Amino acid sequence: MAGSDGFVGVFDSGVGGISVLRALVDELPHEDFRFFGDSANAPYGEKTEGQVLDLSREIVERFLSEGAKAIVIACNTATSAAAATLRSEHRDVPIVGIEPALKPAALALPHGRVLVMATEVTLRLDKYHELARTWEGECEVVPVPCPGLAARIERGDLDAPDLALMLQKLVGPYAAGADAVVLGCTHYPFVRRQIARVVGPGVRFFDGGEGTARQLRARLADEGLLAERSRRGSVTFASSLDTPGELELYRRFFECAEA
Ligand code: DGL
Repeated sequence: MAGSDGFVGVFDSGVGGISVLRALVDELPHEDFRFFGDSANAPYGEKTEGQVLDLSREIVERFLSEGAKAIVIACNTATSAAAATLRSEHRDVPIVGIEPALKPAALALPHGRVLVMATEVTLRLDKYHELARTWEGECEVVPVPCPGLAARIERGDLDAPDLALMLQKLVGPYAAGADAVVLGCTHYPFVRRQIARVVGPGVRFFDGGEGTARQLRARLADEGLLAERSRRGSVTFASSLDTPGELELYRRFFECAEA
């Protein structure tokens, strides 16, 4: 197993995980992070559970062969479909996942109406149903499946009218009386502002990035794997989509991600 000088491998089906990467770097500035976006295979949210597991396993095994000391699955869909299996296959490596931030929303807004935007895979699998069962006594949990949204965000140009129209169609029917929106896919924080226009003023937003970053810190500390505080960390990007503009797009998403 890699020591404290190994890197943290972070992956998603594409640009979405960069919203989590932002939170990781802010929480752990001394660590080296390598981000891999599987944009050639995005969206994961419209694949089968088995396909998402196979794609995730390939990425995790590559990171580990390169010396990763920990893995962050910066994708709700891949966490639901693959985290448990990957943890059982690699018991000696911290593998941290992400889940829709329903808990902080339910605690902040008791009896509120909470929209959970996520991919179809995330909303179909047991992990989400268990989470919803845990919190539905505290608030009204409203699942909002968003087919096509992550794939559209992958293309960039986030202020274009077609994206506004898509959000209106996906979220508009659930918006009346909403108190909170849980961004249950790591792509969606990049269109928070555009979603806010659909649900109206005063609606609070929750995403799992900061919770995931705190969890990674705790796991690294438990295992004695935190990097020296005197060193400066680094961030590198790689993608399965080998087009000239892709890594530039990743860097732009990283720069504009909200801390
Ligand atoms: N960003 C991913 C998530 O958090 C999945 C998007 C996709 O590829 O469908 O669920």
